[in-house]
Amino acid sequence: MTTPQAAAGRWDSGYHAPVLVAEVVRLLGGARRVLDCTLGGGGHSAALLDAGADIVGIDRDPDAIAAARARLAAFEAAGRFRAYCVNYAQLDRIEALAGARFDGILLDLGISSHQIDDLARGFSFREGAPLDMRMGADAEASAADLLNDADEAELARIFRELANEPRGARLAREVVRRRANRPFATSDDLVAAIRGAFGPRTGPADFARFFQAVRIAVNDELAGLERTLPVLRDRLVPGGTLAVIAYHSGEDRLVKHAMRAWSTACTCPPRQPVCICGGRALGELVTRKALTASEDEVSRNPRARSARLRAWRSAE
Ligand SMILES: C[S@@+](CC[C@H](N)C(=O)[O-])C[C@H]1O[C@@H](n2cnc3c(N)ncnc32)[C@H](O)[C@@H]1O
Repeated sequence: MTTPQAAAGRWDSGYHAPVLVAEVVRLLGGARRVLDCTLGGGGHSAALLDAGADIVGIDRDPDAIAAARARLAAFEAAGRFRAYCVNYAQLDRIEALAGARFDGILLDLGISSHQIDDLARGFSFREGAPLDMRMGADAEASAADLLNDADEAELARIFRELANEPRGARLAREVVRRRANRPFATSDDLVAAIRGAFGPRTGPADFARFFQAVRIAVNDELAGLERTLPVLRDRLVPGGTLAVIAYHSGEDRLVKHAMRAWSTACTCPPRQPVCICGGRALGELVTRKALTASEDEVSRNPRARSARLRAWRSAE
């Protein structure tokens, strides 16, 4: 008999261990046609294929496309799985998907374990990693380019808003001071700047927060998400479901606000005593509050700790 623990890890691969799989399958498992916008190692897609859905998968990282295609080759051969290497923010550029609509759409944001583990990709704060952090060829400037070229005010904004650091200006000043002597090139340079700005007691949790902020800026992740959420909503069939897993508070806030706005019928100003807009909601929230991972899942897969899953259904 399979233990619940083993069943929970059933969709893990050496590439990536997907989070909240049971919840995603519960929300999207009834769908006939699913668009997986963040294919990664294909873990969620594998679980959804197993539940009977056909999948169109996209990822901006060619490594992910190769790994998912190898894993799901039998489904691709059977015509149940197709993959495209593209930024989901450029979905409309895939001619083969022009006008295509889906019963379910999944976004599992952020990066995969493979991207972190591959030091050459430069997402890691481990020693000696190049400061790259580009998810795909569509991101032009690397993390080193950003740290060497952005003006101090822009760096301060990135550290303040994306790393939730009220003293972001201090780190921005430190980066600008250091790069005047020697350009930023490796993870060690950014770690040293963080330590220089906030003292030797800063540790891995701080490094992770600032590296994540730089990664989000390099890949233009928040603006891409904000622009694309309504595009994905409009790719749903009536009654179709959009499910989004976010790991960063800024991403989760965008998702929460968008889904709430689409679920609101009346768009009259708050002080209007009687509704005059005659508005009709575009759909409804499936999750009132974000779903989070169980303690069991977090102990098995620590990156599930910050995951927030929200889902929304379009009106019939
Ligand atoms: C958390 S992983 C997804 C893991 C996947 N659900 C699985 O089960 O293996 C996020 C993936 O999304 C991809 N990604 C992030 N932003 C993207 C974007 N704007 N367009 C396309 N892919 C993106 C990353 O390259 C990464 O492979």
